[in-house]
Amino acid sequence: MKIITEKTATAASARAFAIVNELAQHDQLKVMGLATGSTPLGLYKLIRESDLDFSHSTSVNLDEYVGLQPTDPQSYHYFMQEHLFSAKPFKESFFPDGANPDAAAVTKEYDQVLAQHPIDLQVLGIGQNGHIGFNEPGTSFDSHTHRVALTESTIAANARFFDNPDQVPRYAYTMGIASIMAAKRIILLAFGEEKAAAIQQTVNGPVTPAVPASILQRHPDVTLVLDEEAASQL
Ligand code: F6R
Repeated sequence: MKIITEKTATAASARAFAIVNELAQHDQLKVMGLATGSTPLGLYKLIRESDLDFSHSTSVNLDEYVGLQPTDPQSYHYFMQEHLFSAKPFKESFFPDGANPDAAAVTKEYDQVLAQHPIDLQVLGIGQNGHIGFNEPGTSFDSHTHRVALTESTIAANARFFDNPDQVPRYAYTMGIASIMAAKRIILLAFGEEKAAAIQQTVNGPVTPAVPASILQRHPDVTLVLDEEAASQL
């Protein structure tokens, strides 16, 4: 694993942008895997403000809540529209279809999408419990797209985006760990003290489903882009 540490989240986002920019300049971003959440917002802002053009690229998002329409302001589809696609449209953008409750159909379809669009660069955040995508502790490393019941800690962490915690969806569709590991390159961003323990376990701990991100130790091209707080236990 390559580890880049910057003093602030802003500086770290600039480093992540430099990686994206470099790949884009060399036409190596035909398919970009994207994450939602607060962590990539600085990166997305820099992309929005750049002159990069993704109109010939494809995006695939990690996950989507079950039960929300793409037009729902709390959906990840909407989030991406607002923070990236409105300014930088891709040729095609894929999400697991959160509006469809038929999990077998949705996950099969998304696995087909991923098979047809191998990811050149996957952007990841990390949960305080080491989750990547919505792959919570205990998820099999062999998993592909699947439906997950969100843990209480993830529901609590996500409640900040909703008016009240009862509105946080209880299920999501997510790419699996094997889907993420199939990406050619991965950058994982983590900012803030609350991510420090997860980063420590990801980098120095045993590779175990108890810390889903620890599997990244086995990926051939992973870069962690951290601020000093997230790196403070390394
Ligand atoms: C989002 C995702 C999640 C987040 C993680 C961190 O698409 O897959 O794994 O990356 O929960 O969230 P933030 O960035 O809000 O701390």
